[in-house]
Order: sequence, then C-alpha cells, then structure tokens
Amino acid sequence: MSTGRAAVICGIGSYVPPDVVTNDDLARRLDTSDSWIRSRTGIARRHVVSSGTATGDLAVEAGLRALKSAGDDRVGAVVLATTTPDQPCPATAPQVAARLGLGQVAAFDVSAVCSGFLYGLASAAGLIAAGVTESVLLIAADAFTTIINPEDRTTAVIFADGAGAVVLRAGRADEAGAIGPMVLGSDGALSHLIEVPAGGSRQRSSGRPAAPEDHYFRMLGRETYRHAVETMAATSAEAAGRAGWQPADVDRFAAHQANARILEAVSERLGIPTERRLSNIARVGNTGAASLPLLLAESAAEGRLAAGHRLLLTAFGGGLSWGATTLVWPELQVF
Ligand code: ACO
Repeated sequence: MSTGRAAVICGIGSYVPPDVVTNDDLARRLDTSDSWIRSRTGIARRHVVSSGTATGDLAVEAGLRALKSAGDDRVGAVVLATTTPDQPCPATAPQVAARLGLGQVAAFDVSAVCSGFLYGLASAAGLIAAGVTESVLLIAADAFTTIINPEDRTTAVIFADGAGAVVLRAGRADEAGAIGPMVLGSDGALSHLIEVPAGGSRQRSSGRPAAPEDHYFRMLGRETYRHAVETMAATSAEAAGRAGWQPADVDRFAAHQANARILEAVSERLGIPTERRLSNIARVGNTGAASLPLLLAESAAEGRLAAGHRLLLTAFGGGLSWGATTLVWPELQVF
C-alpha cells in the first residue's frame, strides 16, 4: 500500500429527525401493508422531517456531531451531498458552513442522488490530495420525503430523511481511516429510471407548465433493482481488488440501504456472510445520499463496526450513478 498523502476519516456523526412513521401508519392512508413493505423492502419504520424542516437543518445537526467527534471546530471546506437541496439556487453547503460557524470556507453541493456520499468522498479526498485544503467536512443529507408523492405507494414506503457526516484530514495512505481506491461510474442513458421530471431548465425552457406530479420523484423500481444488484456487486469487487483484498475476506460490508433484498443479493454474489453485512434499513428506510454515513455512524456507535475492521463501501442511485471504496476503520468517538 502507498504511504503517500491521503484523506483520512477522523470524525463521524449522524442525525435523524425525531418524527417516526411506521408501516402501519402508511397502510392507513395507502393501499399497502406492513407485511408487503417488510417482505419486499426490509423496512419497518423510518424518520421523517416535520413541517418547516429542510435538508440544511439535518446537515447542520450531523455536521456538528462529526466536528465534535473529530475534536475540531475548524475545517478548510464543506462538501454537502444531497438530492434535496434547500433551494435550486444557491447551493445549500455555504449556508450550512455559516450556521456551523466555519467562516468563509469553500463550500459546495454534490448532486449524485444515492451515490452522493461516495462522490462527495472522492471530491473531498481530491481537495486534500491537491493541497487545496488540509481538512474537509463532508455531509450527506436528504429530506427525501419532501420530493416523494404521498399518493405513490411504490416510493412512499421506501424513502425517508436523515443525515450523516465525516471529517477528513490530510494523512498517510497506510493509516487507519485513509480512503482507499475509489471506483465511480455513471450511465446517463438510464437517467429516466430515477428522476424528478420538473423544476429544472429542461422543463422550464419547454414553455409548458409542469403537471403537479412532475415535481415528485419517480423510480422504475423493478428495472432499477436489477441494475443496482449487478452494478454494486461488480463495483465492490473492483474496489476490493484494487485494494488487494478479496471481497469475501472483508470484515464489514456497507452498501447503500436501498432495499434489504438488494443488499442480500449483492452480498451473496460477493460471498460476504450475513454477519459481516451492516444494515439499518429496518429502522431508517432509504435515506438517499445520507444512507451510507448514517449506517457507518450507527454501526460504529453500536460497536458493530470497530477499529481495525476492513470495510468495503458501495452505493448506487439516480443518474444512474454508482461507486465503491475501501478503508480500514479508525478509532473514533461517535456522537
Ligand atoms: N404495497 C403493496 N403493493 C405494492 C407496493 C406497496 N407499497 N408497491 C408496489 N406494489 C405492487 C406493484 O403494483 C406490483 O403489483 P402488480 O404485480 O399487480 O403490478 C407488485 O407490488 C410488485 O411490484 P414491483 O415493483 O415488481 O415490486 P418489487 O418487488 O420490485 O419491489 C421496490 C419494489 C421495493 C421499489 C424494488 O423494485 C426496489 O427496491 N427497487 C430498487 C430500488 C433502488 O435500488 N433504487 C436505487 C437507489 S435509490 C435512489 O437512487 C434514489
């Protein structure tokens, strides 16, 4: 392994809004049931924002906890991965940086839907590798339920809200916490599988007003499912291989919490036993970009993820976009 300059995770935190929606709550207003949702997705409950709460609010809470975990109140940049920015313009990250009292640091959003945390990690690592800054606060946050059509049972039962954050500092590639080889990819030819049709320049320049439902998120679930399984398995194997690991030998596997059946299928293909697979989808659902750091923070707090574990991470989402990377989990305090 190289000992060159690398981005090293030195703090982690997460936040979910207090309001909880159970499957039975959803079944009271939609044509669905607790047993359908559990068996098809593995989700039992999820946290949702209350009226007036936006992504930026979740991001600030997770960011505060990650900074506390790092024992630092200064970073050189803030990167925010989100599908649901507070407004189309400007980016949400500068306001989050200001609210965190971080001063006039570089701050920008990354838009890669459910792969946002890994794309954000690559961006943050790049800022550090290029010497632009010595430290980055990377937050991944989504108030996903704000773009979900409450009448659409195919998405309303899956998506939820939350935030996770890590602090990265410049360090050595052979240290625990150093971000390993990063594999990223996309396929824009399949962008229609996951989309919010209205609200962007394409719809605005059409000169036609958008239908109300076009402002909501849509997903062709069955087709997305197939791509998610194939792509996360292949990308994970590639990242592990570049790190010199066999996927079946990793201590912990953390995949975007899209659907419990997808996680099972991907782990099976990689030969990773169930007990090494991290999962919190049952109690938080699919939280979009926030999914991976939320999973890591919760797993570390519970002791399921511990210092020294060889960790393989992967995500897949709208774009289509995907990614995977590896790291050895460092000693961290979690808040
Ligand atoms: N309750 C009851 N029935 C339902 C519900 C519901 N909530 N939702 C759909 N159904 C019905 C469908 O109408 C369909 O009925 P039909 O057979 O009469 O047509 C039946 O259940 C089966 O529907 P499928 O869509 O085939 O169900 P599937 O088992 O594929 O599960 C799901 C749907 C959960 C969406 C799954 O396809 C999935 O998880 N897809 C991938 C998600 C993913 O990986 N997304 C990428 C990351 S997320 C992101 O980037 C934003």
